Amino acid sequence: MIGVFDSGVGGLSVLSELVRLMPQQDYVYVADTRYCPYGSKSLDLIQERSAILTEFLIEQGADVVVVACNTATAASVAFLRDRYSIPFVGMEPAIKPAAQLSKSGVVGVLATANTFKGSLYHHTRDTYATHVRVVEQVGEGLVELVEQGSLDGPQTDELVGKYVRGIQHEGVDVLVLGCTHYPFLTEAIRRVATPDLQIVNPAPAIASQTQRILSAVGTHAPSMGSVHFWTTGDRVDQLKKIADRVFPDLQNKSYDCLLR
Ligand code: DGL
Repeated sequence: MIGVFDSGVGGLSVLSELVRLMPQQDYVYVADTRYCPYGSKSLDLIQERSAILTEFLIEQGADVVVVACNTATAASVAFLRDRYSIPFVGMEPAIKPAAQLSKSGVVGVLATANTFKGSLYHHTRDTYATHVRVVEQVGEGLVELVEQGSLDGPQTDELVGKYVRGIQHEGVDVLVLGCTHYPFLTEAIRRVATPDLQIVNPAPAIASQTQRILSAVGTHAPSMGSVHFWTTGDRVDQLKKIADRVFPDLQNKSYDCLLR
C-alpha cells in the first residue's frame, strides 16, 4: 500500500499521477486539513504533524510514504527518514528540468515561504541553476483558494495574475510549480500568462520515483486499486467533492475523518 499525505488537497495532484502510473495499487491519502496551510507554520509543528500522519499511514499498512507536499518535504523528510525505517518519497523542486527547458535563461519558482527557507530548495537551486537566474515568488493565498475549490473566477485570476505577470516581467519563460496545490491552478495560470510560458509540474517524476522504490521494496500483497481518503478536518464532504473531481472514474473510493 502507498501512503500519501499533504497539508490538504494539494497532494491529490501527486496522487493522480501515482494512480495513473500504478492503477492496481491501493492508496491511503491523508489531507491534514485542520492544520492547513503548512506554508506559514513553524518547523516544529510541521515535523510533529508529519510524524503523526506517517505513524497513521504505517498503521494502515503503508510500504512507502509519499510526502506529497513541498513544504512538509522541506521541513520533515530528513527527520522522517531518521525516525522510521520505511522508505519516503519527497517532493523535489523541479529546477533542473526547468533550467534545461529555459531559452531566456530565467526560470520562475512559485512555492510557499517555508519551502524557500528549506535547505533542500537551496541545495537544488545552487546545484542545478548555475547557468540560469531563478526568480522566486511566494504564492501567498493560493493554497487557500485551492482548498476552497476556487480554481477559476475573478478573485483567483487576479491573484494568480499578480504573481505570474510579475515573474514574467522578469523574463521568466519556464515556471516551476513548487507546491502541490498549484497544478490545480494550471488553467488559471494559462489564462493570465503569455502563451509561451512553460509550466513544470514535478508530480509525474515523483510517481516514477515511487514506482522504482516500491519495486525495490518488492511487496507482493494483493491489491484492489482502491483509495481511502482521510481528512483531519471536519468536512469530509469538501474533500469528497474535490477528490471526486480529480478521480471521476475511480470506482473503489472511501472517505473518513481522522481525529489525530
Ligand atoms: N501542498 C503544500 C506544498 O506543496 C502546500 C503548503 C501549505 O499547506 O501551505 O507546499
